[in-house]
Amino acid sequence: MTDLSPAATSETAIWDAAAEGWHRHAPIIRRWLERPTRAMIDMAGIAPGQTVLDVAAGAGDQSLDLAQAVGPTGHVTATDISPGILRFAASAARAAGHANVTTHRADAAALGLPAQTFDAAICRLGLMFLPDPLAGLRDIRRTLKPGARLATMVFAPPDRNPCLAVLMATALKHANLPPQDPFAPGGLTSLGRPGHLADLFAKAGFHTVAATTMDAPFHLARTGDYMAFVRDAAGPIRSILAALPADRQQAAWDDIARQLAAFQGDAGWVGPNTLLLTVGTC
Ligand SMILES: C[S@@+](CC[C@H](N)C(=O)[O-])C[C@H]1O[C@@H](n2cnc3c(N)ncnc32)[C@H](O)[C@@H]1O
Repeated sequence: MTDLSPAATSETAIWDAAAEGWHRHAPIIRRWLERPTRAMIDMAGIAPGQTVLDVAAGAGDQSLDLAQAVGPTGHVTATDISPGILRFAASAARAAGHANVTTHRADAAALGLPAQTFDAAICRLGLMFLPDPLAGLRDIRRTLKPGARLATMVFAPPDRNPCLAVLMATALKHANLPPQDPFAPGGLTSLGRPGHLADLFAKAGFHTVAATTMDAPFHLARTGDYMAFVRDAAGPIRSILAALPADRQQAAWDDIARQLAAFQGDAGWVGPNTLLLTVGTC
């Protein structure tokens, strides 16, 4: 992949830096997203023998589910803008014994893959990071065979994701940056506004578009377990704080931890989180 835009270069650097953390916390991510991932795979109509595209695949957790679902006669192409995180996807597939997964480094808005190739596509927690998600949807659609489905998972609005809202607002405050519009392109909750992503699917040419929200709370023992996850793996928050000296970064993380301790109770630390699943047919 050549000639990355400044936005793509910055996104690559953010996720290359968070790659090891996202991989290391794979067990937490799997527990958190197992049920919505199953739902997304069902919505995409994924079946044995299919050739499937996994966009913004990250460290490949959901690629393993896809590899399992399509079986040895099917194939999964796991794509991501970050070569660093894709290396973990390739090694996770090898370790799980899936010979039917290949990786391909690509910006989701310029996949560089042939037209009308895939029987289905998914994108788990990636589309919201695109500066132009409509361009991404159009390029994914271009690679799908007629009748194929795309299913995506993004975060619902900030009022349904209070932990994300705390993370973002507190990081910006400590970095002396102004508050951000939570629906501005490229942000964590940028595609969460009800109806917006379904409209983009339709604009990109998908038909029979449907969307549903799903609660996917984090169940962890302690606030500190969530803090360890976000400190290692939350690329956008890490990148806001990265310019600060170490003591000011620590002060920001301490402030975040103090606020998130509100979710600690008798059943452990339960962090509310709501996802938006959207599907469309090519
Ligand atoms: C929150 S992680 C999700 C990874 C994985 N899908 C999962 O759910 O475990 C977001 C991923 O989106 C990728 N990403 C961000 N912007 C992208 C873009 N423009 N094109 C392709 N991938 C992108 C990042 O590199 C990162 O791997």
